Amino acid sequence: MNILTKFRKINTPLTFDNQLYKQICMMEPISVKNTIPLTWTRAEGFIVNDDHGNQWIDMTSGIFVANAGHSNPEIKKALIDQINSNLIFSYNYPTQIKQQFLEKLLAISPKHFDKVLLLMTGSEACDAAFKLIKLWGKKNQRKYIITFKGSYHGRGLSNDLVSGYPQKASWSGINDENIVFLDFPYTGNELFDETLLPPANQIAAFFIETFQGWGAWFYPKPFISKLCQFARKEGALICFDEMQAGFYRLGEVYGYMTYDEAIQPDLLCLGKGISSSLPIAAVLSRNELVNIDTQADLHGTHSGNPLCCAAALANLEFLSTPKFLHDFRQRVRVFEQRVCELESLPSVKKVNARGMIAGLIFDDANLATEIAFECINRGVLPVCTNRSSIKLAPPLVISEEAIHESIDVLRDSINFICKS
Ligand SMILES: Cc1ncc(COP(=O)(O)O)c(C=O)c1O
Repeated sequence: MNILTKFRKINTPLTFDNQLYKQICMMEPISVKNTIPLTWTRAEGFIVNDDHGNQWIDMTSGIFVANAGHSNPEIKKALIDQINSNLIFSYNYPTQIKQQFLEKLLAISPKHFDKVLLLMTGSEACDAAFKLIKLWGKKNQRKYIITFKGSYHGRGLSNDLVSGYPQKASWSGINDENIVFLDFPYTGNELFDETLLPPANQIAAFFIETFQGWGAWFYPKPFISKLCQFARKEGALICFDEMQAGFYRLGEVYGYMTYDEAIQPDLLCLGKGISSSLPIAAVLSRNELVNIDTQADLHGTHSGNPLCCAAALANLEFLSTPKFLHDFRQRVRVFEQRVCELESLPSVKKVNARGMIAGLIFDDANLATEIAFECINRGVLPVCTNRSSIKLAPPLVISEEAIHESIDVLRDSINFICKS
């Protein structure tokens, strides 16, 4: 099917016969194999192009990273300036760009945070938060970490231990019996039930993915409010993994704020949309938490790399301008309204949506994948989860016109696959 609109161009169908895809698959481990054989040659704003003249509306933000848009001109300029200053690596030495970025990050964050730990990836940020919680728990005789079944926190050992999939860490032979997994409140009617918890005075922290990734499942707001009130009353820490939810994805600078403005987390794990581009991640925290062990070994060779800091600083400056936020919130209303309309289609079991993220839930994974591939062949790139969901998370700069066009394509693709 040939397609040509203002935003989409499709000349050739997606094929696993893609030579570049096959060459890369030959060299990389099977477990990192990308399931979508789509070659990226260019990505700008909310548009992605390949080497066959095809063009897609990107509803993935390159998997929740390009919040400020792909190749954002202000981020590009900051990177070029940084390169031209001949400082593209600086180990752990002080640099002006690092100081400026740290200041900006703290300035847009709630005032109770006074420390930033810089890292490269989300997995590292969650690992560092895990370590800080363990150190704090040891000092305060609190051993339990409470988290949720079905959650995801990255791919290192501690990430596997705290992610809510049975057996995720079984490869290691290591089991942490002090990590307690609660059922995720999928129906939306569940109440926070403290009787399911271990003794309150032994709980170190609640480790919470701000929403559950695979289907953009949100907790009921009263559930999170009660959980956080309980943690406060009992002296346990609250840690949100904001990897997908952070940097305005849900409409506020941090996603946890969309549950209850009164929440004051002790730790925030940040990454992805922090730079809209280069690899940089962070843990936000407070002095008394991060300084428990002066030998904690929290710094890495590339932490605070000047290019990454330049990209992240320009990104935060772009996203936090009042004009951008005003226009963005208008587009969020359009996105939420249009995406929720899809719930009326018989094959869509549920639509979870908040800000510029949505999860469409189907009966099974094969159906969801078939629909995702149909969308791709029609010029819209959704997040293919390989589960019974499709996720939509466009760059926050997407235009209203492109939102309308993408949701129309989603609807037509669902109808087409479900009728055939
Ligand atoms: C909620 C969450 N936490 C942690 C991670 C790990 O981040 P990274 O891939 O940057 O290591 C991800 C990645 O998808 C994530 O979605």
